[in-house]
Amino acid sequence: MSEGGSRGDLLELSGIDTFYGPAQVHFAMNLEVRRGQIVCLLGGNASGKSTTMKVILGLVKPRAGTVRFDGQDITGLSTPAIIARGIGSVPEARRLFGAMTVRENLLMGAYTRRDRAEVNHDYDRMLGLFPRVAQRINNRAGTLSGGEQQMVAMARALMGRPRLICMDEPTMGLSPLYVDRVLELIAAINKEGVSVFMVEQNASLALQIAHHGYVLRTGVIALSGPAGELARDPRIRDAYLGGERTAA
Ligand SMILES: Nc1ncnc2c1ncn2[C@@H]1O[C@H](COP(=O)(O)OP(=O)(O)O)[C@@H](O)[C@H]1O
Ligand SMILES: [Mg+2]
Repeated sequence: MSEGGSRGDLLELSGIDTFYGPAQVHFAMNLEVRRGQIVCLLGGNASGKSTTMKVILGLVKPRAGTVRFDGQDITGLSTPAIIARGIGSVPEARRLFGAMTVRENLLMGAYTRRDRAEVNHDYDRMLGLFPRVAQRINNRAGTLSGGEQQMVAMARALMGRPRLICMDEPTMGLSPLYVDRVLELIAAINKEGVSVFMVEQNASLALQIAHHGYVLRTGVIALSGPAGELARDPRIRDAYLGGERTAA
């Protein structure tokens, strides 16, 4: 059998139970990201989406279940150890170092790397991929618009050369122009070979670029399937696509 687990899964969550104190968030949750895919996790407010990302990154330890990455059990590893395995994080609300320049933020994404020439190469590549970031390179990150900050957060995560990038609500709070741009960039990153796990409330947009989707409902995967099928599923349409019903 090839390295990296069965069925081509890059990431595999199985039987995950998560609690905050006595409050259970996830109930025997299973979820997979196959190599090369964009997978989106949809669901209403407080359904457990962000906590799922925190479980993957080791920020929240599940009480039961396992997280496997590239065929290896990473459950219980520290966040830096998980990131070192090849998982990049773009957290909710970007979380940049606001007082540092854009350049410094990007280089922070490569702080564990020792391959300096390659880091410089990746840095130049990011400026090519994100021209808007290049224009702002000497500005303090905190002075950038939300859309610009999202791009910096994506570039920073990519500086760690992840095989999987996890993004929490990447389009939240952005102007419509930047929403489209950020989604295009996610698709472009994926085409370069980075698998993507994204949490989104905006189901219709996320399903446009995703290969596969899951719907979380109070800590239980209520629906899952190919993105195109989910986008047409009346249950998704009613719950997450604005509830528009077409006549007849
Ligand atoms: N640090 C925390 N401590 C206690 N409860 C939390 C914490 N973070 C989230 N929760 C609760 O866990 C549930 C799931 O939250 P979250 O994963 O952030 O949902 P989502 O991202 O889908 O909105 C919510 O009821 C939320 O209030
Ligand atoms: Mg959230």
